[in-house]
Amino acid sequence: MSRVSRRSAVEPFYVMEVLKAAAQRQRSHGDVIMLCAGQPSTPAPEAAREAAVAATSTQVLGYTEASGILPLRHAIADHHRATSGIDVTPEDVVVFPGSSGAFTTLFLAAFDVGDTVAMTRPGYPAYRNTLQALGCDVLELDCGPGTRYQPTVAMLDALPEPPAGLVVASPANPTGTIIDSEELAAIARWCEDHGTLLVSDEIYHGLSYGRPTASAWRTSREAVVVGSVSKYFSMTGWRVGWLLAPPSLRRPLEVLTGNLNICPPTVSQYAALGAFTPQARTELEGHRARYAATRELLIRRLPEVGLRSYAPPDGAFYAWCDVAHLTDDSVGWCRDLLADCGVALTPGVDFDTVEGHHMVRLSFAGSTEEVGEALDRMAASPLLRP
Ligand SMILES: Cc1ncc(COP(=O)(O)O)c(C=O)c1O
Repeated sequence: MSRVSRRSAVEPFYVMEVLKAAAQRQRSHGDVIMLCAGQPSTPAPEAAREAAVAATSTQVLGYTEASGILPLRHAIADHHRATSGIDVTPEDVVVFPGSSGAFTTLFLAAFDVGDTVAMTRPGYPAYRNTLQALGCDVLELDCGPGTRYQPTVAMLDALPEPPAGLVVASPANPTGTIIDSEELAAIARWCEDHGTLLVSDEIYHGLSYGRPTASAWRTSREAVVVGSVSKYFSMTGWRVGWLLAPPSLRRPLEVLTGNLNICPPTVSQYAALGAFTPQARTELEGHRARYAATRELLIRRLPEVGLRSYAPPDGAFYAWCDVAHLTDDSVGWCRDLLADCGVALTPGVDFDTVEGHHMVRLSFAGSTEEVGEALDRMAASPLLRP
């Protein structure tokens, strides 16, 4: 019998089950509307695709330096300076294969087996699963609608002892909510005072609809900021993410990523250079305007359809909805909804191990028309009637 480690026994992404069922339904009925994908439905900006094509004909595309090519680290530093008003140099930036690659490497660089790392519940499940696979203890902060599903200093003060790390996301997945800048600053100060490494996932920055986003680096240069071309830049499959890291972590990150990944995908690094151009920005702001319009439609129509959302999404492209009046089995309910009307949602159990059985996540990253059609179908479905 071949060996399988105990540490690999982490939870699967339940959304994968929905995706499999949705693909089946698409083959049999051809009518699926995917409100379950956590990614833009648009391709990379044209300037990024052009940069990729140019790179394939002018560059060798071998390995690069482990931390990423210098022009890309320059472009990322400039981007942070322009969008967050923080002073970032290329030396602060380490590029990885997606922010997912950045998280794994960072957790290895910063935490030891047995360290406790806190995160929000609801929250992005890969934090929990990756930390557990690396032998860390995960402490979930119960963040309800009262704090718009975000952590507060009061919650940290109530912990029996300070954790080794705290992961926050703003805008967040699955809720789309943003931590107000004063609260984020207070959290960053608390972490500095208590020797807790703050990991601030800012990969949805750029996708917000009125409420301002702040960077943790405005307050604390001891924090780690996480970025990615996946969401605002519409480049999920290109696998480019980065960290802004304090000096003490830079060398361990570089050494670990050199061993684990050698380097981020080279052609994608050149493509990403195109994503930071003014031409790309115009295209990407067009996507943001579309998400904003679809979000308005959702906020207006969710109550009429019978879905309850207690915290309107300030950012990202997700609405986190309560279906407790309809079911206490969100996995089965999502399966039934798909079979009834071809609309694919994500069951909440992926994001919340305690309350997720009566929650679902809707992604509004698709076209406004598609989301409108999905709402029409749900309004007509018996599954939406208590
Ligand atoms: C909050 C959050 N962080 C990180 C990621 C990972 O993104 P990527 O590896 O594509 O940069 C995701 C993906 O959905 C996410 O929602």
